[in-house]
Amino acid sequence: MSSVLSCSGLAFKVRGAELLNGVSLALQRGETLGIVGPNGSGKSTLLKLLAGLREPSAGEVLLDDQRLSKMARRSIAQTLAVVEQQADTDDGIRVFDAVALGRTPWLSALQPWSVADDAIVEQALIDVDALHLRNRLWRSLSGGERQRVHIARALAQRPQILLLDEPANHLDIQHQLSILKVVRALPVTTLIALHDLNQALNCDRLAVLERGRLVALGKPLEVLTPERLEETFGVTAHYLTDPFDGAQILRLHG
Ligand SMILES: Nc1ncnc2c1ncn2[C@@H]1O[C@H](COP(=O)(O)OP(=O)(O)O)[C@@H](O)[C@H]1O
Ligand SMILES: [Mg+2]
Repeated sequence: MSSVLSCSGLAFKVRGAELLNGVSLALQRGETLGIVGPNGSGKSTLLKLLAGLREPSAGEVLLDDQRLSKMARRSIAQTLAVVEQQADTDDGIRVFDAVALGRTPWLSALQPWSVADDAIVEQALIDVDALHLRNRLWRSLSGGERQRVHIARALAQRPQILLLDEPANHLDIQHQLSILKVVRALPVTTLIALHDLNQALNCDRLAVLERGRLVALGKPLEVLTPERLEETFGVTAHYLTDPFDGAQILRLHG
């Protein structure tokens, strides 16, 4: 049975500042849910809380009806993988070994590293088009290559739930498109903070954050209305139809 993740009344305060307030949402099994919102609206904060990397100041996160705050790190990591916006890795490590870290929650004295783990790491590298980087040192990678390797590490974890914080940020256009395609094709439930509103339109559902509050949740075209884009992002928006495939495209003006 695959897992699902939800939260209710989630809040997070730092020194009196409310970074997140009253956020309730439930991931649906197998969906790709996008989170959009202006800079500083709380996207990264929400992802960290949902991954159990921060303790909420109110509300709670449930993973399969269990309170995340009561679960062991290892069992969370067997279900849920996260790629943070500012992920860091030891400079001297090789790419293969960096991705192999994704297997950590599955290894034990009784279950040491095996050829199956090698195969999983290789597949993860193939999925992000980075197999050719396998012997490179981390410090020699470009920003976009590092980003792909971070995603490979999360994939090597073989999670049921994948949380990605602006994964396309450093990527060139080809890899931006292919990463999202790879992620969408995986048999996982995905929560993904996205910057590019046109890419966000490809998600199954979208959540919009504004100053730490969830202000809209639903199908992309129903959520990203010109009125919403004006109110939340302060931009004027029109939809155009792509003559190639009939898809809706957002044209934005400042
Ligand atoms: N540790 C912190 N202390 C104070 N403010 C913080 C801290 N972390 C984040 N913030 C602020 O909280 C807000 C939300 O941040 P974040 O979740 O990173 O937003 P987003 O990912 O949507 O850009 C921002 O205004 C940010 O500056
Ligand atoms: Mg962020």
